[in-house]
Parts: sequence; structure tokens; C-alpha cells
Amino acid sequence: MKSVSIIGAGVVGQAVGRILREKGYEIKGVVARSIAKAEVAAAFIGAGEPGIDPVGGASGADWILITTPDKAIKETCGRIARGNGFGKGSLAIHMSGALGSNVLDSARKAGARALSIHPIQSLASSEQAVKNLPGSYFSVEGDAEAIADGREIVEALGGLLVMIPGEKKALYHAGAAVASNYLVAALDFAVMIYEALGMRRDEAVKAIMPLVRGTVNNVERVGVPDALTGPIARGDVETVAGHIEALEKYLPDMLPLYKALGRHTVKVGLAKGSLKKEDAGRLIEILD
Ligand SMILES: NC(=O)c1ccc[n+]([C@@H]2O[C@H](COP(=O)([O-])OP(=O)(O)OC[C@H]3O[C@@H](n4cnc5c(N)ncnc54)[C@H](OP(=O)(O)O)[C@@H]3O)[C@@H](O)[C@H]2O)c1
Repeated sequence: MKSVSIIGAGVVGQAVGRILREKGYEIKGVVARSIAKAEVAAAFIGAGEPGIDPVGGASGADWILITTPDKAIKETCGRIARGNGFGKGSLAIHMSGALGSNVLDSARKAGARALSIHPIQSLASSEQAVKNLPGSYFSVEGDAEAIADGREIVEALGGLLVMIPGEKKALYHAGAAVASNYLVAALDFAVMIYEALGMRRDEAVKAIMPLVRGTVNNVERVGVPDALTGPIARGDVETVAGHIEALEKYLPDMLPLYKALGRHTVKVGLAKGSLKKEDAGRLIEILD
């Protein structure tokens, strides 16, 4: 069984450490910036030597997980490399969605292999992450000779692996940002409309949630584009014209966003097959 060090034992590092420990992996160093935080992290993981020195923490481990915030990954990896913390055949891993494994090049130069392994999940706390990481998809990118280890880690975490090319990591991350962050922004837009009706923000959020849940469930059940419903999917041009008129009157600043999302929704409706070409043409005219 491989040994693991966690350098940057925050939300993700602690959760991954706990799951790997439960699966029988040996936890070596558990490193944070203060010893108090490292001790709390080691207690959560249930094993490991708390510390504040990334070099000492990494030394002797087969897998070195650098789970610091993104901006500290490259520098932390460089520090470990300079201090000879990467043993021969060891594997440096970070779990950022935005960065490629190239930020671990200093580990490669020191003779280690490197991977980025990113869970497509939003993790607010270590407790929640221990529950949510299993069943999540993990993207893996990096050294060909380390992919088997990547597969082993993802399997140990109960995840599903998807390989991505390193040079497309930013594109991959844009997909995750659209699915999560832009969804929140789109819901903020809906809430703004209900606020314009006089609803309180918290009421508006509550009011749209059953609809949001139903929609997300449909996406899970039948996929995209088939989950699309509503006036654009039906080719109901009059209703969309009514939305535009109402927004012009009450929320004119938001009209460009409504129209931009509408134009993409027309493409989804066409792909579903429920929207006729001639209705799509009329919709595009009013949405342009
Ligand atoms: N949270 C998510 O939803 C999520 C999802 C997917 C991937 N990720 C990725 O997982 C990684 C870790 O994120 P996280 O949410 O677990 O972060 P986090 O909770 O803020 O934990 C960061 C850890 O790194 C330590 N640290 C902070 N600055 C450091 C520095 N300059 N040098 C060394 N150590 C430092 C912190 O120590 P102290 O505790 O002592 O401050 C803490 O132990 C990131 O690459 C992130 O992109 C996060």
C-alpha cells in the first residue's frame, strides 16, 4: 500500500486524507501553515504527523498531495523540490481545476512524476467533502507513467475518472465554471426578476427552488437537449416577445443577458427537435 503526504491540509486535503486513511493508505506528513491547524487536520484525518515544513512533510511519501490554494501550489512544489523532499519514483499531485500539471514541473526536474487530479465538485467543508467526493467525476492529466497511480487514487476516493489533455485544462475548467458559477449567476437573474415583482430575495430563492430541482432532475434523467421545456422549446414566439417587452419596461439592463441566453436556448430547442426551423428564425429575429 502506498504512503501519502498532505501538503496544505485544508478542506480538500483533509477529506482526501481521511478517505485514503480509511482505505488503508499510510498517511505520513500533514502540513498546514500553523501547527495548530496541522494538528486539527491530522485529528480529522485520523493519522499523520502534523507539521509546518512542506519538505519534511513530503519526505518519504509515495504520493505527495499539494492541496494548498492554487496560488501557492507552484511555489510549494518548488520548495519541496529544492529541499529534496521528492523521493525517487514519488508522485506529486495537485487537485486544482484551473491549473495543469505543468505547475509541478519542479517535481519532474527533481525526478518525481506529476499529475493533476481534479474532483468536479464544490466542496464547502471537509465533512461534506468526505460524503461528496465518492461518486464524483475526477479529471486526470499529467505523466503517462503516473496514470495508473491516478486511477488508483480516484478509485480509492470512490470517484469516476475522466482523462483530459493538459493543454486544454483551461477549457475544461471553463466547463466547470459554466455548470456551477454561471448557473448561480443565471439563478441570480431569475431572483432579480422576482424582486422586481416585489418579492424578497430569500422568498424568491425559495420560490424558484422546486423549479430548479425539477429541472436539474430532468437533466439527470433525460440529458441535454431533451430536458429543455418552455416557450423556446415549443416555438411560442408571442410569449418570448412578451418577456422582452416586460424586461424592457422593468429591468432594461438585463435584456442583453436575456437575449444572449435566449439565442443559445434556440440552438438547444433545435437540437431537441421540438422547435421548428421557421419558429427558430422568428425567435432569433426578436432575440437579436
Ligand atoms: N474547495 C473546493 O470546492 C475545491 C474543489 C475542487 C478542487 N479544489 C482545489 O483543492 C485545492 C485546495 O483547496 P481547499 O478548498 O482545500 O483550500 P483550503 O481549505 O483553503 O486549504 C488550503 C490549505 O493550504 C494551506 N496553505 C494556505 N496557503 C499556503 C501557502 N502559501 N503555503 C503552504 N500552505 C498553504 C492552508 O494552511 P492553513 O490551514 O494553516 O491556513 C490549508 O491547510 C485547491 O487547489 C483548490 O483549487 C477545491
